Amino acid sequence: MATMAPSPPPTKEAPCVKGIKQLLDEGLDHIPEFYLLPAHNRPCLSQVYSSDQPPIIDLATLHGHGRSHTLIALAKACHEWGIFQVINHGVPQSLVEGMFLASRAFFQLPAEERMRWFSDDSSQGNVVYIPIFGRDWDDALVFRSTGNEDQSFENAPEICREEIAKFYKAMAEFGTRTCQALSESLGLEPDRLRQAGVQHLTYCKLHYYSPCPEPSLAFGKIEHTDPNFFTCILQDDIGGLQVLKDDCWVAIEPRPDAILVNIADMMEILTNGRFKSVLHRVIANKERPRSSIACFVGAEKTDIIAPLPELINDQNPPIYRETPVSDLYAVFSKDPTGKFALRHFSLQP
Ligand code: OGA
Ligand code: NI
Repeated sequence: MATMAPSPPPTKEAPCVKGIKQLLDEGLDHIPEFYLLPAHNRPCLSQVYSSDQPPIIDLATLHGHGRSHTLIALAKACHEWGIFQVINHGVPQSLVEGMFLASRAFFQLPAEERMRWFSDDSSQGNVVYIPIFGRDWDDALVFRSTGNEDQSFENAPEICREEIAKFYKAMAEFGTRTCQALSESLGLEPDRLRQAGVQHLTYCKLHYYSPCPEPSLAFGKIEHTDPNFFTCILQDDIGGLQVLKDDCWVAIEPRPDAILVNIADMMEILTNGRFKSVLHRVIANKERPRSSIACFVGAEKTDIIAPLPELINDQNPPIYRETPVSDLYAVFSKDPTGKFALRHFSLQP
């Protein structure tokens, strides 16, 4: 993908194009109609949540005699939860903290400045500001890989350019290590998932969830599954991310030393349903802004993915058909919740 210059600011000044941060800076004290969810989709804040937490995987134990135990725990986490927290992940804390500071600095820029990176087509350009995504109460800045080893993001906002280049590289390496561990947890060679299409870190999204005047009427991010293979999430100490486990929403307690990894749709297809693409969402809050960083490990748009032959036998016939990656993204772009995307590729009635 070619490196593109920042887009000029949009000429159309529809209220939603400015993004939530800007509307609040201008004094907004209620939810604009555009963001109001239909009654049946609104957050039920009194819902009973489970206090269970996703399993913690200590990557340091992969190199010692706890190795086989860790691989079993990893496979179990991906099957039962579709999400786990990684500690001793090898990404320096200073890089993570630097990235969060730089992200907050970007979202504090004057709106006209942020809008220099605006595009209403987020698949174009390798640095794109998305002040509106569906009805989510969220502004985001997206960095997309150009496929080169060395991502320098020369066209990124100066305020976060250096940080994103270092952070992206470290997260890409973490993505590769995680991918190898996932492969081995399936009893396969470390490189097997990569050979089957799991590529590099495709893009990275800096999220800024503004305080929401009426958190019972909108979500930071409405419930969805991700379309890619797996997503690595870093979050600040505010909280709000929830995952569905056994029909119950679990609020993930933030841990500054951990990276969350959630399994996404393409991985569920590749593992023939052994690893579960987890439904997740972000609750908005009234008091403080929340920052998170989501790093998406995906495939080339031209790839075709299918259940791995090694994971198929008489007891485990294929439950997904061969799926062009472009079809998956097409389904996702029609319904950004992606909630039922996998049904389109299922072989089961
Ligand atoms: C996403 C996502 C969660 C978060 O970007 O797909 O689910 O905590 N983000 O921001
Ligand atoms: Ni997600």
